[in-house]
Amino acid sequence: MGKVYIVGAGPGDPDLLTVKAWRLIQQADVVVYDRLVSPEVLELIRPGAERIYAGKHEGEQSQAQERILKLLLEYGRRPKRVVRLKGGDPMVFGRGAEEWAFLAAHGIETEIVPGVSSAVAVPALAGIPLTFRGVAASFAVATGHCREGQLTDWTRYAAVDTLVILMGVENRASIAAQLMAAGRPPATPAAFIENGSTPRERIVTATLRDVAEGRVEVQPPAVFVVGEVVSIRQQLAPGAGLESVSGTKLPGSSGLRVALTEIERRGFMSVEYSPADVVPRRLKAWPNRR
Ligand SMILES: C[S@@+](CC[C@H](N)C(=O)[O-])C[C@H]1O[C@@H](n2cnc3c(N)ncnc32)[C@H](O)[C@@H]1O
Repeated sequence: MGKVYIVGAGPGDPDLLTVKAWRLIQQADVVVYDRLVSPEVLELIRPGAERIYAGKHEGEQSQAQERILKLLLEYGRRPKRVVRLKGGDPMVFGRGAEEWAFLAAHGIETEIVPGVSSAVAVPALAGIPLTFRGVAASFAVATGHCREGQLTDWTRYAAVDTLVILMGVENRASIAAQLMAAGRPPATPAAFIENGSTPRERIVTATLRDVAEGRVEVQPPAVFVVGEVVSIRQQLAPGAGLESVSGTKLPGSSGLRVALTEIERRGFMSVEYSPADVVPRRLKAWPNRR
């Protein structure tokens, strides 16, 4: 019998793999990978290893998943080290738990290797913290893609400070309209980060109203972030404008204005945490990625 490792590949940049994922990818006999695993990560697979693409095409979700489970079972029964490689973290909208449960039910030794989820890392790399003292004390991660015949009740999410929507590109206008209908102000800042952490990364900022009115051009995969924290990007990513796609300046709440004024006054990020938690860094010295 072999062993199957269900491994998170992170958002794309190989430097964001965990040390364990990096080691396993290079040691694997077989790598079964998803569509969202970046070419840069796939380059790490050792030349003699078998690579199997298990991406799904539109409309073949359930058959594809059955096919993948059968494949994992077949390889897991051989004396091989199998890496089941998934974008981000396997347990965040990744069906990692389903595959683990299936393999366990068939007596295949399985280990999970968590990955850096795009939900948190992609906004962070774009200079958008999901929480920020005085501005956002909660966040939720939701899927923007519903099963046929099912509708997401966006009123449940409207009150969350920061909302992160994965798989939300296609339904973006309707999601934004429903959040507004549920009480989120039309001027709420929003951002889409396409292909985060890869050389193909692209960031678009907008207001919720712009998104609802179809003014945002964006391609999947993208993380859709809604909330005041989007405006903090201006402080963390030097050179980043805070314009919405419609050309207006993104507004911020009074909480955000107080927090940003405080940063400007002090010249560095929070100093109230212990030095072990946060090393204050001068804004001028803030590293500009890429
Ligand atoms: C099926 S979900 C898988 C999420 C993954 N398990 C994770 O933890 O990141 C796929 C969605 O994740 C988001 N996503 C994953 N990688 C991304 C990236 N590098 N840049 C932007 N969005 C990404 C997109 O919203 C995409 O539609």
